[in-house]
Amino acid sequence: MSALFTPLRVGALELANRIVIAPMCQYSAVNGCMTDWHLIHLGHLALSGAALLTIEATAVLPEARITYADVGLWNEATEAAIARTLESIRRWSDMRVAIQLAHAGRKASTEVPWKGGVQIPPDHAKGWQTVAPSAIPFRDGEHPPVALDRSGLIRVRAAFVAAAQRAARLGIDAVQLHGAHGYLLHQFLSPLSNRRDDEYGGSLENRIRFPLEVFDAVRAAFPADRAVTMRVSGTDWVDGGWDIDQTIVFAQALETRGCAAIHVSSGGLTPSQQIPVGPSYQVPLARAVKRATRMKAPDQYLRSQPRQYPDLFDIGH
Ligand SMILES: Cc1cc2nc3c(=O)[nH]c(=O)nc-3n(C[C@H](O)[C@H](O)[C@H](O)COP(=O)(O)O)c2cc1C
Repeated sequence: MSALFTPLRVGALELANRIVIAPMCQYSAVNGCMTDWHLIHLGHLALSGAALLTIEATAVLPEARITYADVGLWNEATEAAIARTLESIRRWSDMRVAIQLAHAGRKASTEVPWKGGVQIPPDHAKGWQTVAPSAIPFRDGEHPPVALDRSGLIRVRAAFVAAAQRAARLGIDAVQLHGAHGYLLHQFLSPLSNRRDDEYGGSLENRIRFPLEVFDAVRAAFPADRAVTMRVSGTDWVDGGWDIDQTIVFAQALETRGCAAIHVSSGGLTPSQQIPVGPSYQVPLARAVKRATRMKAPDQYLRSQPRQYPDLFDIGH
C-alpha cells in the first residue's frame, strides 16, 4: 500500500492518511463571516476522504484581511458563522479540521482576485490602512503600510491569541499560523520587507523574534493536546531575501517551542520573485526542513519503520 494511505501523527493529532487539504481563500465572506459558499466548498471537501481539512487563511483582525471578502475570526459574529458551517459539516463528516490564522500585513486591503486583485487605498470604502514591519509597500507606487509600533505588535499578537481561543471553542483540531506567501509574519522574516532597527529587525535572530512570539502566545493559548503548526515560505526566490538556510533556523526554533509540523511553501513576498515552477519544484525545500528537524514522527514510533525501510521517516539520524 502507498505510504499516502497510512496513518500519520502530527503532534497529538492522529490522521487517518497523509492527505491534507491545503487552505484555500474563497473571498466569499461578508464582514468576515462565512456564507453558504463556505458550506458548499468545505462541505464537499469534507466528503473527499482526506485526513485533514484546513480552513482558508482566516484573518485575526478586520485589517488583517487580504480583501474585504476574507473569512475572519475576530468577534462573536465571525465565530458564530464558522460554528454554523462546522455544525453542518460535522453532521456528515468526521474529517479532522484545522484553521489557518493569518494577518496579511502590507498585502491587505486588495480587490478580490477575479476583479484584478489590486490594492484598494485607505480612502476607498472597501479599503483600509495596512500595517507591516516597515513602511515599504509590496509594489512600487502602492499606498505604503504603517510600520507597527510596540503597541501595534502587542495588538496583533493578542489578536492571534484571541482567534486561537475562539478556534479552540469551535472544536477545531489544529491551528496553522500563516508565516508564508508574503503575509505579515513572513514580512517580519524577510530582510526585504523588514528594515526595522529595533529588536525585531536586522539580524536573523531579530527577524524571527515576532513570529516566534506569536507562535509561543498561540501555543500557550490553544489546548495543549491539539496541534499548532506553521506554514512558511522556504525562500523568497530573490537574491538577498529569505532563503532555505534561514528557514531551517526558524524551523528548528519552532520545533523547540512545540510546533507540531511545518508546512513548506515558497514565494509571495515580492513581485520581483523568479519562481522555477515545475512539477515538485517545492519538494527540495520541504525535504531540507524535514532533514533538519524531527517533528514529524515521535521517537516512540520510530521502531515501526519496516526493516527494509530504515529511513522511512527521513529524519536525518
Ligand atoms: C484558490 C486558492 C486559494 C488559496 N488560498 C490559500 C490560503 O488561504 N492560504 C495558503 O497558505 N495558501 C493558499 N493557497 C495555496 C494552496 O494552499 C496550495 O499551496 C497551492 O494551491 C499549491 O498546491 P500544492 O501545494 O498541492 O501544489 C491557495 C491556492 C488556491 C488555488
